[in-house]
Amino acid sequence: MKLYSVAIFCIAIVIAFANLQNQDDIPYSGPTSAEELGKLLFHDSILSEDYSISCSSCHKPQFAFSDTLALSPGVRGQKGTRNTPTAMNVLSRPFFFWDGRAASLEEQALIPIENPLEMNLPADSAVARLARNPFYIEAFNRIYGAAPSKALLADALAAFERTLETGSDHDRFMNGDSSAISSAAMRGLEIFNVKGKCFECHFGPDLTGDEFRSIGLFDNINDKDKGRYDISKDSLDYGKFKVPSLRNVAVTGPYMHDGSFKTLREVIEYYNEPQKLRPHGLNRDTLLAAPLGLSEMEMDDLEAFLKALTAPQFKHFLELKRKD
Ligand code: HEC
Ligand code: HEC
Repeated sequence: MKLYSVAIFCIAIVIAFANLQNQDDIPYSGPTSAEELGKLLFHDSILSEDYSISCSSCHKPQFAFSDTLALSPGVRGQKGTRNTPTAMNVLSRPFFFWDGRAASLEEQALIPIENPLEMNLPADSAVARLARNPFYIEAFNRIYGAAPSKALLADALAAFERTLETGSDHDRFMNGDSSAISSAAMRGLEIFNVKGKCFECHFGPDLTGDEFRSIGLFDNINDKDKGRYDISKDSLDYGKFKVPSLRNVAVTGPYMHDGSFKTLREVIEYYNEPQKLRPHGLNRDTLLAAPLGLSEMEMDDLEAFLKALTAPQFKHFLELKRKD
């Protein structure tokens, strides 16, 4: 009898040991860098109140990390107040949001989680969820040597976003490949730089000077969003918004802080004659004081140029759009 129990005990130890060995044998298949962890978190609805919304619900990878709506729904279908910008090509930006209220991607990352109209989850609760989740506990430990925290959550999301840089035919053209863009796009580039005055605000590698300017959409009638003024309280900032990067702009419509323009053509027509659409636009930049006087063909060319800012992975989207 005694021998029998000793045998069972031995077998149990062998089994337990084998199990332990097995566990060690299962290779770790989770994320191994902050970027990879951030990518998982970006797509995980664990960060929203009712587990229904992730960052990628609004920043959809297939639309250059924006979506196709003027205003995106958050938890319980609530609509936000501003258009979802692309989360790509954010590496060199000095501030974030249309009004620039976040100074870094890390600072930005926790704001949508807590925003009642977006993910509506206190950041502490988001961290508590991750700290109860065996997968994330192990991932944070392997990558940061620490348990999930607000700072590490923000760090991972920001690290992922910094990987979302894209190139374009326009870049190849600027690097000396003169056949990289069509002749229409070449004419459009000239209009962009000179007659259209676009380059005065949209310059640099990402086609933004990273400034706040007013193109005069804010009129306190149709558009009551005071933009940068709400942050600075300086009346010079009435209706000013960040000049957005134009990379992948053919993919990221609707356009402007309020999503009020559906197509690039509507945007171009606005710039051509701002007074026509918003006669009472306030604090409109002097660059836009007079109509540009662009012909239909010049507007076509400008549009062709804006399309040449599309990354290779989104070009199929241009084909689709052309059909409808
Ligand atoms: C419900 C839709 C929605 C969700 C969910 C959402 N965002 Fe956004 N995102 C927006 C909108 C709208 C803005 C612009 C808001 C503003 O300017 O006031 C924005 C702005 C941003 C910006 C600034 C881009 C720029 O160029 O200024 C970044 C980066 C960003 N979001 C990342 C994230 C991350 C990371 C998450 C998840 C933690 C997330 N977003 C979740 C809608 C959303
Ligand atoms: C005075 C500076 C200025 C000039 C000049 C200017 N822009 Fe803009 N652009 C802006 C600002 C600021 C916004 C955002 C405005 C808003 O949301 O109210 C913007 C938005 C855009 C958008 C929408 C991008 C998006 O993601 O929603 C496009 C497209 C655009 N501009 C193209 C052009 C073109 C083409 C020209 C020349 C015909 C031009 N811009 C001239 C400052 C300028």
